[in-house]
Formats: sequence, structure tokens, C-alpha cells
Amino acid sequence: MAIERVLITGAAGALGRVLRAHLRGRYTLLRLSDIAPMDPAGPGEEVVPADLADAPAIDRLLDGIQAVVHLGGHSVEGSWEQVLRANIVGLVNLYEAARKAGTERVLFASSNHAVGFHRRWPRTDHTAPPKPDSRYGVSKAFGEILARYYADKHGIKGFCMRIGSARAEPVDERQLSTWQSYPDFCRLVDVGLTAWYRYEIVYGVSANTRSFWDNSNAERLGYRPEDDAEAWASKLEGVKSPHLVDELHVGGPFCSVDFTGRVEDIV
Ligand SMILES: NC(=O)c1ccc[n+]([C@@H]2O[C@H](COP(=O)([O-])OP(=O)(O)OC[C@H]3O[C@@H](n4cnc5c(N)ncnc54)[C@H](O)[C@@H]3O)[C@@H](O)[C@H]2O)c1
Repeated sequence: MAIERVLITGAAGALGRVLRAHLRGRYTLLRLSDIAPMDPAGPGEEVVPADLADAPAIDRLLDGIQAVVHLGGHSVEGSWEQVLRANIVGLVNLYEAARKAGTERVLFASSNHAVGFHRRWPRTDHTAPPKPDSRYGVSKAFGEILARYYADKHGIKGFCMRIGSARAEPVDERQLSTWQSYPDFCRLVDVGLTAWYRYEIVYGVSANTRSFWDNSNAERLGYRPEDDAEAWASKLEGVKSPHLVDELHVGGPFCSVDFTGRVEDIV
């Protein structure tokens, strides 16, 4: 059945606003939700404020929705309280609501921080197991596993995007490897909304010359990124973290936050 009714959570956020503009006018209904203020609804849009931790509100939010692009949640390292509420309880609420609503697919904004304690080289691919570098990263690894469970148990298609650094421009040397341009982010979401799959992990990264990841799984599904952070190389080479633990691992600066271990023990 063709997808006509799409929900974006986190619609007030940086990526939510980019995606709202990209998907506008493409579907019969584009429902937009966030806990933060959003612009008023335009033609074909509905604006529905909701807290992901409020299960009855999320049940109502998913009513009639065929596909969700789930961007909402705590998007940086935070306390356990913050991460549990928005990213663990919130995600369980979202998936339960999707199950009850008969939603066909959920695109989940996972993160490179779910695998942040993998070494940068040699390159890894979508089969790299979770190796979170932060409480935030643990919540994203949980999200990937929850998506797997709902795919197998309830047939909800799961598309987990391990987003690197999705922003207008890369800002340091690491992001020459992890950057995803906004147009490439939209291209990846288009794949998630249209391709046939049951459960997939892909990387949200542009066609960077220095990418940490082999993203052939995304390419197999139809992703064709057009941008490369190498254009910023001369400006950003040498802009590094002062911490060795950050520079060795894909998660970069999240690795050293609260770090009390030994770099040589991370294997
Ligand atoms: N931008 C990146 O480089 C990047 C990288 C990896 C993963 N991601 C993930 O992609 C998603 C979007 O990222 P972003 O950069 O737009 O982040 P963002 O922080 O700008 O947007 C997240 C949105 O979620 C909303 N939110 C937070 N708690 C909520 C709650 N309890 N209920 C409802 N809404 C809530 C916030 O109000 C915010 O508008 C996030 O899930 C983030 O973890 C982003």
C-alpha cells in the first residue's frame, strides 16, 4: 500500500525542520510533533505537540500513521534521567503506539554514538555491533534493538540510521569523515520511506573520501549521496580533540565525557 500519512517526531529540531521542508507536499498528510514550539501547519500538514514520555498522547499521535521518521528525543549526552525519559521510555511509547496503529515502518534516528567506541580504522560497516560511547549512545543502541524486536515480532519495518554529523558544514577534522549534508540526509530518509526491507542498519553519512564507514548496505537499498566533506579539508585538518580516546574512536568528543577508564582497555 502506498504511504500517504507520515509522522515526523522531533519536528522542531534541526533535522526535523530540514525534513519538514523536504517532505512538504509529498504526502496526503504530514503530521509534525515535538515538545518544543513548531511553525503553524501549512497545507497537508498537522502540528501535534506531544511529549514522547506521555504514552496516551503518543497513542493519539500515531493514529492513522503509516510511516514515522523518529527524530525526537534527547540528542546529545545527558543525565540518565534525561536519556531514560526521552529516548528509552519515549521510544517504547512510540513503538507501542505504532504497533497499535498498524504503522508499516519506522525510520529511527540512531547515531554513530551507538558504535562510538569502535576504532576509526579499519573501517566498519552495518554489521558492527553496538559499542556505545555515552549514555546517549546506549539509548541509540537500545533503539536499534527495539526496532529489531518490533520488526521480528510485529512486522514493523525498521530502518536504523546511524547518523554521523548531520549539519550544514563540518566543523572539525573528525567531521571530514562523519559529516552528512542536509540534502544527503533527506536522500537517506527517502530511501527509508520507499525501499523494500524488513530491518536494516545504515549509516547517515555523505560520500566522504575519509568516511569511517563502509555504507554499502545503504547503497544496496538505493542511497546515492552526492556530497563530500573533503571540500573543507584544508580548513579543518588539524582541528582535533586534545584527548587520545576521542581521536582513536569514531564517537570523537563523546568518548572523553565522564571517561575514567584506560584507552588501552577499550578493545
Ligand atoms: N544532527 C546530527 O548530527 C545527529 C547525529 C546522530 C543522531 N542524531 C539524531 O537525530 C535526531 C534529530 O537530531 P537533531 O540534530 O535534529 O536534534 P535536535 O535536538 O535539534 O532535535 C530533537 C528534537 O526532539 C525534541 N524532543 C526532546 N525530548 C522530547 C520529548 N520528550 N518529547 C518530544 N520531543 C522531544 C526536541 O524538542 C528537539 O526539537 C535525534 O534523535 C538525534 O539523536 C542527530
